[in-house]
Amino acid sequence: MNFLTHLECSVCGDRHSPHEIQTICRSCGKALVARYDLQAARKSFSQASLKDRPPSLWKYAELLPVEREENVVSLGEQTTPIIPTPKLGEALGLPHLLMKDEGQLPTGSFKARGLAMAVSKAKELGIKTVCIPSAGNAAGALAAYAARAGMEAFIFLPEDTPEINIKECLAYGSHVKLVQGNISDAAKKMNEQKKTNPGWFDVSTLKEPYRLEGKKTMGYELAEQMEWQLPDVVVYPTGGGTGLIGMWKAFDEMEQLGWIGSRRPRMISVQASGCAPIVRAYNEQKPDSKFWENAETIASGLRVPKAFADHLILDAVYKSGGSAVAVNDEEIVASVYEIARTEGLFICPEGAACFAALRYLLSQGKVSETDRVVVFNTATGIKYPEVIKREL
Ligand SMILES: Cc1ncc(COP(=O)(O)O)c(C=O)c1O
Ligand SMILES: [Zn+2]
Repeated sequence: MNFLTHLECSVCGDRHSPHEIQTICRSCGKALVARYDLQAARKSFSQASLKDRPPSLWKYAELLPVEREENVVSLGEQTTPIIPTPKLGEALGLPHLLMKDEGQLPTGSFKARGLAMAVSKAKELGIKTVCIPSAGNAAGALAAYAARAGMEAFIFLPEDTPEINIKECLAYGSHVKLVQGNISDAAKKMNEQKKTNPGWFDVSTLKEPYRLEGKKTMGYELAEQMEWQLPDVVVYPTGGGTGLIGMWKAFDEMEQLGWIGSRRPRMISVQASGCAPIVRAYNEQKPDSKFWENAETIASGLRVPKAFADHLILDAVYKSGGSAVAVNDEEIVASVYEIARTEGLFICPEGAACFAALRYLLSQGKVSETDRVVVFNTATGIKYPEVIKREL
């Protein structure tokens, strides 16, 4: 079914087998990435063949890690729409402003992509129990796909995770543990308990290689939907960074397949000013980030004080000629209302942060009027009822 050949360490290049359970690099402890025989794929897998396939992320199966179709665990991952936002574009002075709406995926967020892939591959490798620390949406997605696959899931969440994320995990029958602090504290707690539960498989961001493969389908979809002409700018809300790193990987693979040229969008990483380790590293032009103390923001998905693969996020930002910018919670909430009222799109605070960031990017000359800009809305606003004040 696919052209997967091996897993390669993102830092030391050490090769690992994809037919065994893998986590991080056995030599240096960094993230592993899936590699495919793209030269063989180039000969037998054409762009044209995609047109006749159902509009789902599984249409790129040859370039995904699941080897046997019967292992695919799916909840109906449809291709997400790219929606023009003309009124907002006009207000900002960006006539070519588009939004890719990931809120339309199962469980209401783009986390479905990564966890559909991780759970499918885990099933293929015979894994029965999974665990995760999460800011919220990844937990909901893991809980759903684990239920679908008949796996047991142990989920560790900060105690102030939005209520809806806690409830969706409970609805799907996962074991939920609430931990004081942020996602890093939740991860510490999980690692403690993992020591006495050796059967638990950890699906933390980039500590297993396949969530990235699910997220990279955002890049394939984007290119296909835009008829293989990538936009000038991609604006993306960054926590752990799998989406940004995944798209960057997809662009590279598509170039090797002969599907696109060497031109890349400028990748813009958006964070909240209460937790902006990538923006701080970018401003200091550093290759990696430092832990952000006392992380706090209403955009719960962005409350990641230190991304495990921060060097890969920053690498994509630098190589693409992109940027990193932070906006505060007040701007984020104002942006949620503005987009809902002007365009009829109720989006998540993480996506709204990206729209809010456009004002800074325009004033800094990092984005201009002629640019074709795609903003990723990573979840539906309906999952964040607490953002809207009940003023009747
Ligand atoms: C809605 C939303 N947007 C963005 C992010 C950050 O995603 P990534 O890990 O791809 O940087 C998250 C992560 O929890 C999220 O839930
Ligand atoms: Zn390594």
